[in-house]
Amino acid sequence: MQNFEFHNPTRVIFGVGQIASLAKHIPSDARVLMLYGGGSIKTNGTYDEVRAALAGHTVLEFAGIEPNPKYETLMQAVELIHREKIDFLLAVGGGSVVDGTKFVAAAAAYDGDAWDILKIGGKVIKAALPFGAVLTLPATGSEMNSASVISRAETQEKRAFMSPHVYPRFSVLDPAKTLTLPLRQVGNGVVDAFVHTTEQYLTYPANAPVQDRFAEGLLQTLVELGPQVLARPDDVEVRANIMWSATMALNGLIGVGVPQDWATHMIGHELTALFGLDHAQTLAIVLPGILQIRREAKRGKLLQYAERVWGLKNGTEDERIDAAIGNTRAFFEQMGVPTRLSGYGLGPEAIDATVAAVEAAGLTGLGEHRDITPADVRKALQLSL
Ligand code: NZQ
Ligand code: ZN
Repeated sequence: MQNFEFHNPTRVIFGVGQIASLAKHIPSDARVLMLYGGGSIKTNGTYDEVRAALAGHTVLEFAGIEPNPKYETLMQAVELIHREKIDFLLAVGGGSVVDGTKFVAAAAAYDGDAWDILKIGGKVIKAALPFGAVLTLPATGSEMNSASVISRAETQEKRAFMSPHVYPRFSVLDPAKTLTLPLRQVGNGVVDAFVHTTEQYLTYPANAPVQDRFAEGLLQTLVELGPQVLARPDDVEVRANIMWSATMALNGLIGVGVPQDWATHMIGHELTALFGLDHAQTLAIVLPGILQIRREAKRGKLLQYAERVWGLKNGTEDERIDAAIGNTRAFFEQMGVPTRLSGYGLGPEAIDATVAAVEAAGLTGLGEHRDITPADVRKALQLSL
């Protein structure tokens, strides 16, 4: 196991009805800006619960943060913050709203050109406004991590940044608020959490059995509960366990002391930027191909994954690896997330464009060994035509 330092400062407030306790986590004299998306929180009651809980606070609003949140939109929130002397932010929504709020929190406290945060990276951030989150879509882990992914419409770029200054102060996770998710978003969430786990687990053995078994526990839980949430969408207990799995998949815990991959995510971001696919849809396309072309470098962990997650014990090593990759693809399909470009009306020309974008973004050495080239990206995508 590698050396590591682990500190996660986000307070998690979990369970049905917990929005009512919001007020005590926000200073009573704060000028609060509530940020949200396209309106789902108004139709499912979350908006009303938040406003009722903060009845004693000064609360302004910024609506319209879109999925794959846009820099152009978020800069309008930054202006509002300066104009209205806002000193606390509250994100209410899915990963896009939480990510957007992280960027706004950092940009509002940044003196230079705010695009630096994405171009140069989170290290330029020396301070950020404090913020909390009320999560309505389990998927990204953004509610308990220091990462954010922002898109720039003008240049078709999608870039990530990380900074210890943008951990949420707290996140309220009420699984009942996820009951109104369209099935497409339910499937997306399960796939995203699954791939966050594999990015930190399916690399090479690092003698880290605690992280391995936590990761395997999350993967098994998602494989077990994914079909259950589709069969019983009104079951709050199933929703609760999926929600906690998604948070645990990317709050840093399973990634300490181990090598990490993230090639699937980096390639996936380019697919979203070019073709507007949902984040998880891109992962479902990319991961099976990446596992296939990296089967030698990942052999040890792929065999462990095959046995411990999928119970595959018979056959040759190569047969078990093929079966594990096949099961992974089938699981994503079962969750309603197509794993082939053709499932989204895309063909070989999409591969050319993605490889060119990967190259243009300087992503020439991806994966845990930093050796996945654009030519490898092409091979991986060709397996998912
Ligand atoms: O905008 P509204 O009306 O709220 O509707 C949203 C949106 O259309 C809807 N929704 C959310 N909660 C709902 C609901 N509809 C009904 N009932 C509810 N309870 O769902 C749609 C998608 O929302 P979005 O926030 O975009 O989804 P998700 O949480 O999957 O976030 C995706 C974004 O997170 C980034 C992705 O790249 C993408 O931009 N990621 C962030 C990460 C991080 N910060 O660590 C890591 C991830 O790998 C990922 O890259
Ligand atoms: Zn993701």
